[in-house]
Parts: sequence; structure tokens; C-alpha cells
Amino acid sequence: MALLRILEFPDPRLRTKAQPVQQVDDKMRKLISDMFETMYAAPGIGLAATQVDVHQRLLVADVSSDKSDPHVLINPTILEKDGVAVTSEGCLSVPGYYEDVERAEHVRVRYLNRTGDAIEQEFEGLLAVCVQHEMDHLDGKLFVDYLSEAKRQRIRKRLVKDRKLQAVGA
Ligand code: NI
Repeated sequence: MALLRILEFPDPRLRTKAQPVQQVDDKMRKLISDMFETMYAAPGIGLAATQVDVHQRLLVADVSSDKSDPHVLINPTILEKDGVAVTSEGCLSVPGYYEDVERAEHVRVRYLNRTGDAIEQEFEGLLAVCVQHEMDHLDGKLFVDYLSEAKRQRIRKRLVKDRKLQAVGA
């Protein structure tokens, strides 16, 4: 397994719309393993392929505290959504920032699992929020897009500045 590099806002590659996965093969399963390793190491509760610069419709998630509930969603589609949940969200591509975002409380999703089987599943609570957040990534969307323009620009400027300081070793 290998740790993958996570793209950070405002990297334009995060705006790429991912393509459907054509085949769930060994190469895809290797990517899935690497994505889990990268997500757990970060640590985070979800990771979309877009964030590791692979523009295919694939995400992984695990909201448990002990890595005991891993989910792999390939080519996910939301069939139904209801309710409202406001959650303080963060993102591995927007490190250090947490803001309230409103999403559906329950979602029913159709997807392929890691063996390529078609699944329909209901998600709720934090996992539902996480799945919606990661599905946004596959469409090139970030949680900061739900904030005001002023707030998004403030975060963008801070992240660019922090990265420049890191680059010079400050
Ligand atoms: Ni994210």
C-alpha cells in the first residue's frame, strides 16, 4: 500500500468532474486500498478519488473511531434524500477549517461496491453527510462553495499563504 498525495484548495484539479468507473478491477482495488490508508493516516473520515488526482467516480468513507466501518462507493447516485442536517464540516483538501454546512439527513444511494456488485443503501447521520460531501468532490465541488464568497476567499488566501511559508521552511 502507499500513501497518496492529497490536493489542497485552491488547486484547480479539485474542480475536475470525475468520469464513471468502467471496470472494478485489481488496479481499482489497489487504488481503494491506498485511499483508505491515506484517509486513515490523515486522519479523515472520507476521501474522494478527485482529492488524490484520480478523476474517476469513487469514494471511501469510515466514520467509526476504530476503522471498523469502511465503505467503498463506486459510481454513486443519490436516489432519494430527506431531512436537514447542519454539520460542522472539514475537508482533507481544506486543512484546518471547519464550517457549518446544511445537507440532507438521510440519503438513499445506488453504487457499486469493491467487488463490482450493485448496491442500494440508506445512509443517515454523519455517514450520510460524509457521503454527500465526498460525492460533491466527484463533481468538482468543495464544502467551502457553500460559504459566503468573502469567507471562501479568506480561507483561500490563508491556505495559499501557509503553503508559501511551508515552502520556505518558515
Ligand atoms: Ni472533502
